[in-house]
Order: sequence, then C-alpha cells, then structure tokens
Amino acid sequence: MKITKIPEDKKQYLDILLLGDEQESMIETYLDRGDLFALYDDDLKTVCVVTKETETAHEIKNIATREEYQGKGYGSLMLNYVIDHYKDKCAALYVGTGNTERTLSFYRKNGFEYSHTVKDFFTKHYDHVIVDDGVPLRDMIYLKREYGGK
Ligand SMILES: CC(C)(COP(=O)(O)OP(=O)(O)OC[C@H]1O[C@@H](n2cnc3c(N)ncnc32)[C@H](O)[C@@H]1OP(=O)(O)O)[C@@H](O)C(=O)NCCC(=O)NCCS
Repeated sequence: MKITKIPEDKKQYLDILLLGDEQESMIETYLDRGDLFALYDDDLKTVCVVTKETETAHEIKNIATREEYQGKGYGSLMLNYVIDHYKDKCAALYVGTGNTERTLSFYRKNGFEYSHTVKDFFTKHYDHVIVDDGVPLRDMIYLKREYGGK
C-alpha cells in the first residue's frame, strides 16, 4: 500500500474524482490549486484532494474510493494520511459533505466533529439534484478536525 502526491496530469484521475463530486465544473474549481493524493494497493483504490483555504485552514474537497473497494478501510487510511500530512501546516482540517448519515459517520469515526452548515450549497452550486445514499442534498455540512496546540 502506498499513498503518493500527484503533481501533474491530475485530470487523469477524473473518473474516480467524479465519484466524490459528480460535477466536473466543480472539480475544476479546486483540482489545480489543490494537493491530489492517490492510494495504490496494487492498483488505484482511493483519491483525495485538499486545498489551502486560509492561513490556518485546509479543506478536503474530494475523497473517493473506487466502488468495488468501498467499505474495506481504504478511505480511512487516506483520511488518516491527510490528517497527519497537514498537522504542522494548519490549525484545522475541514470537510464539507451532504447531510447523509453514512458519509457523516465515516468522518466522525475518524475524529471529525460538526463545525457549521452552509445553507442551500448543493441546490445553489450544482446544475442538477445530487442524490447521496437515496437522499437529495441541499445544505453542506462542514466537519472539522482540529489540531491541538496550534
Ligand atoms: C465515503 C468513502 C470515501 C469512504 O471510503 P471507503 O474506502 O469506503 O472507507 P472505509 O472503508 O475506510 O470506511 C467505510 C465507512 O465509510 C462509510 N461509508 C460512506 N459511504 C460508503 C459507501 N458508499 N460504501 C461503504 N462505506 C461507506 C461507512 O460509515 C463505512 O463504515 P462501515 O464499514 O463501518 O459501515 C467512499 O465510500 C466513497 O468513495 N463514497 C462515494 C463518494 C463519496 O461519497 N465521497 C465523499 C464525499 S464528501
């Protein structure tokens, strides 16, 4: 198992990035400026994009595991890798997600807690209704993982 930072040709990961964020125009708003990480265990399993939002905050913009490998621990390995990677670079790592219990519990299990809600984010910024786990998404729920001592 190996996690590497992908410095260029990031668009070659578009297929898997679309699992985490299904609108390409949204991915384009953060892919160039973000750090892209890819987890390989033989073949590609999981990707993650993290951006610097302020001097003290980084944000996970996209995390996705290929469908056939979901639920096998790869997402958690990636999440813990990025948590460790940014520990000296910011005071907190944020992630915004839809209001679905399965996704929220993925982050909670990995030490994230509720931060704030951005009302109508999905209905305002996406050109079609995004459905996650059977739920049409409206508000963006922000969770955070604070680093102690910074
Ligand atoms: C959410 C996601 C990145 C987690 O990656 P993963 O490799 O499946 O993660 P893990 O195996 O470490 O953790 C699994 C946990 O994630 C949660 N989970 C969320 N969506 C899931 C899915 N589609 N399949 C399986 N588990 C999912 C569950 O709580 C699960 O816990 P459980 O195994 O105790 O039921 C992955 O499922 C995925 O790519 N989903 C589609 C894209 C997405 O929703 N991205 C997040 C947008 S904010």
